[in-house]
Amino acid sequence: MTDQGSSSYAPDAAIAADILAYLETHENKDLLRFLTCGSVDDGKSTLIGRLLYDTKMIYEDQLAAVEQDSRRVGTTGEAPDLALLVDGLAAEREQGITIDVAYRFFSTEKRKFIVADTPGHEQYTRNMATGASTADVAIILIDARHGVQVQTRRHAFIASLLGIRHVAVAVNKMDLVDWSEARLHEIEAEFRRFGDGLGFGDITAIPMSALTGDNVTEKSAAMPWYTGPALLEYLETVDILQTEDDAPFRLPVQWVNRPNLDFRGFAGTVASGSIAPGDEIITIPSGKRSKVKSISTFDGDLPRAVREQAVTIVLEDEIDSSRGDIICDKDHPAEQSDQFRAKLLWMAEKELLPGRQYRLRTGNKTVGASVSALKHKVDVNDFSKRAGKTLELNEVGVCNLSLAQPIAFDPYAKNRRTGSFILIDRQTNETVGAGMLDFSLRRAANVVWQDLNVGRAERARQKHQRSAVLWFTGLSGSGKSTIANLVERRLYDMGRHTYILDGDNVRHGLNKDLGFTDADRVENIRRVSETAKLMADAGLITLVSFISPFRTERQIARGMMAEGEFIEIHVDTPLAVAEARDVKGLYAKARAGKIKNFTGIDSAYEDPLDPEIRVNTARMSAEDAAETIVAYLERAGFLSGE
Ligand code: ADX
Repeated sequence: MTDQGSSSYAPDAAIAADILAYLETHENKDLLRFLTCGSVDDGKSTLIGRLLYDTKMIYEDQLAAVEQDSRRVGTTGEAPDLALLVDGLAAEREQGITIDVAYRFFSTEKRKFIVADTPGHEQYTRNMATGASTADVAIILIDARHGVQVQTRRHAFIASLLGIRHVAVAVNKMDLVDWSEARLHEIEAEFRRFGDGLGFGDITAIPMSALTGDNVTEKSAAMPWYTGPALLEYLETVDILQTEDDAPFRLPVQWVNRPNLDFRGFAGTVASGSIAPGDEIITIPSGKRSKVKSISTFDGDLPRAVREQAVTIVLEDEIDSSRGDIICDKDHPAEQSDQFRAKLLWMAEKELLPGRQYRLRTGNKTVGASVSALKHKVDVNDFSKRAGKTLELNEVGVCNLSLAQPIAFDPYAKNRRTGSFILIDRQTNETVGAGMLDFSLRRAANVVWQDLNVGRAERARQKHQRSAVLWFTGLSGSGKSTIANLVERRLYDMGRHTYILDGDNVRHGLNKDLGFTDADRVENIRRVSETAKLMADAGLITLVSFISPFRTERQIARGMMAEGEFIEIHVDTPLAVAEARDVKGLYAKARAGKIKNFTGIDSAYEDPLDPEIRVNTARMSAEDAAETIVAYLERAGFLSGE
């Protein structure tokens, strides 16, 4: 400002300039995300409470409440019990809807901080994973009296799995071991024995007492032998940018911004690296090349965009690229594949079902995906491999993933943002797993579709019909096979070309290796769906008669067939009726506990919500049911030549 103005104006201007300068330094302060791993017993709540308290992030009324509670129930005598502060916030949170991870904010002169507080019992690996997926630093708390515990290894392993590069081993409660230097070295050495093999960038052991505040925000006078930083100083100075900054430029396209004909931009958040106008790019998987013309944001154009910035990139050329593509540095493009080796952390109460279709989301893309093979489980306590067919809640495994279409990706070890994914249940939309892509298996790339000269429509027309898959689902003994047989007989008599795939029969051959666990049933239905698809392709009217108890697999079967080709027929016979008939004597055996996982008894059956046809054999004869189905086929044009 050159305007000297009147003297009365100057102080205001100075204050305004001060405020602006203050805001600017505040805005430009970098942000560190970290998480604390450990249980309340290790002093986690006290530690977070101490950080918030000492950095003056506590409102006075909160503090007054804590002081009052401390006098009543606290464990710290005259001083406020800081754990009550954090636990009090936790209780507040619990009244709301369940949030697994609470984020708390505080700041100092040097940095802004977000700490992910992951409550819950030790087994809730999932909470930790949620907090860790964006964290730069993990603080692993260890009670100095107890040293390294099983859970310490678990936390360290998951932190490494999720690509956290910086670990602070907070050896807490040093006041209870007489501030012993030897004890710190002992614990640090024990941690490093396994921690050094986990690929962290650095491990820093800090002796402290969260309760007394020693080495939390200020250097402790009680441990003059310790020359390293206090925790807060460590958090203020740990260099988090250098590690990810060398990753090449990646921008997963969130949407294509086209307000008018003259403007077309690709909007998204820079996942890694940086970009400037003039830089050459390539989009993956679409493989289009161009140059950056400009980078626009809400507040005008930028000379350069870096990690975490939300921008719209305008290119020199009109290229066709869509949501989910990744715009990459031309010389260091992302890979693409539909087959992967991956690590998977299972986060749902219901076990993983290999073969089941889930939705996989990575970047801004969501595709169908299934675990085609679980190679082995990882015991997170000693990192050993364990054989296993499935993953239960909080278990980690190494698996092969098969996707419905190729995606752009980087191996997780190279880029956390473009190498991680979550799995979502198709029915409930719940996140059931989180994982890391290790490498592409590229198997599908070598198997190309063979073009055939005769098409499915021609094959069907030659038979004077349209291909169809009549999918009979219902309890054992509901009458599926009886009705399917009657329908086939009617169609045969009308000169139609048909085939029946019956559960009991297919289980003698193609599927004879499968039993009745949920996982085996999923695989059973997957194989018969593929078979039915081939038969429909051959122009046949295919009748599938399987219990097929799960909605997800029936929905997937539907999705595999051509539009309108899949006809779901619910043979809706009440359990009591099927059980009373008990044609094969299986219900009696199941009730007697001689057969396990029997549908309707100790294994679920999920009713179709909106089947094309529903027949109830308690109210209608099998003949009438067959009649209803044939009439439907006639009406819908399946039996005419066109
Ligand atoms: S599905 O659930 O995987 O679709 P599928 O239709 O192939 O089952 O096989 C069901 C048939 O297997 C039943 O009709 C019955 O004869 C026989 N079976 C034997 N054990 C079981 C069981 N535990 N649950 C259901 N069916 C069983």
